[in-house]
Amino acid sequence: MAEALPGEEVRVWPDVGDGREVSHALIWRPQPGLFDALPNLRLVCATGAGVDHFLADPTYPRHVPLVRQIDAGFARRMADYVLAWTLFHHRDGRHYQASQHSRQWQPRAMRDAGDITVGILGLGQMGGLAADVLAHHGFCVRGWVQRPQARPGVTVDVGPEGLTQLLAASDILVNLLPLTPATRGILCRDLFQRLKPGAVLINVGRGPHLVEADLIPALDHGHLSAAVLDVFQTEPLPEDHAFWGDPRITITPHVSSSASETTVARHFADAIRRERAGEPLFGLVDLTRGY
Ligand code: GLV
Repeated sequence: MAEALPGEEVRVWPDVGDGREVSHALIWRPQPGLFDALPNLRLVCATGAGVDHFLADPTYPRHVPLVRQIDAGFARRMADYVLAWTLFHHRDGRHYQASQHSRQWQPRAMRDAGDITVGILGLGQMGGLAADVLAHHGFCVRGWVQRPQARPGVTVDVGPEGLTQLLAASDILVNLLPLTPATRGILCRDLFQRLKPGAVLINVGRGPHLVEADLIPALDHGHLSAAVLDVFQTEPLPEDHAFWGDPRITITPHVSSSASETTVARHFADAIRRERAGEPLFGLVDLTRGY
């Protein structure tokens, strides 16, 4: 921060002194009472890509512009995570782990990446790059969006009908949607029933995209064969949660991607400069759309 913002006074919550003096804030999750304590904000910069926790906060001052992280390295880390778990499942990683556990030599027929369809919900900065990387790797990639977009190498499915087509075709389903009222709970029983049977779910969006109570039944009924979850309704995932003990579920602790500290500090500094100069803000969130 000191490097990115030379000459600026940086205060760290909750030791902000007189909150009326604070004009720009960098925040991951707003703490209760934070916005009431900072009545003269001119800009808020989120440290993450998803800004649902700001939009869910009734005290967020709607006239204050909110920018989120947009960064190639951030998206690249996410694409790496999605590629890693896609390859793990494509190359029968779970089967070989179980075989090793029971000391059995059980080769399986190999398939090419081109035999596997990966469906990605959302083709924004994260989903778009993940789609490109997977397509480059040889997978058949479909992406679901609200508005048509050109994406060479990726089949773009639009709207409700497009979703049905994508689900029926996908061996692996990746969620990279923003969390909004329209997408909350989208990963539910109804959606799992429309998937190609035995598909793998990778959820790297937000915990509340998934109706958690519907996941284990979908695995039991064979709609899904496995799930990789990086985000949860409650984080950290409570110790007694059923997901921990289910071998079909892989859990990572919200680590699929994050922007580097240097990038975040530079992005914040750039946003402050732009706000002061009245220039367009990079990564400005449309508060009604929710991303
Ligand atoms: C992390 O979850 C983010 O939104 O950046």
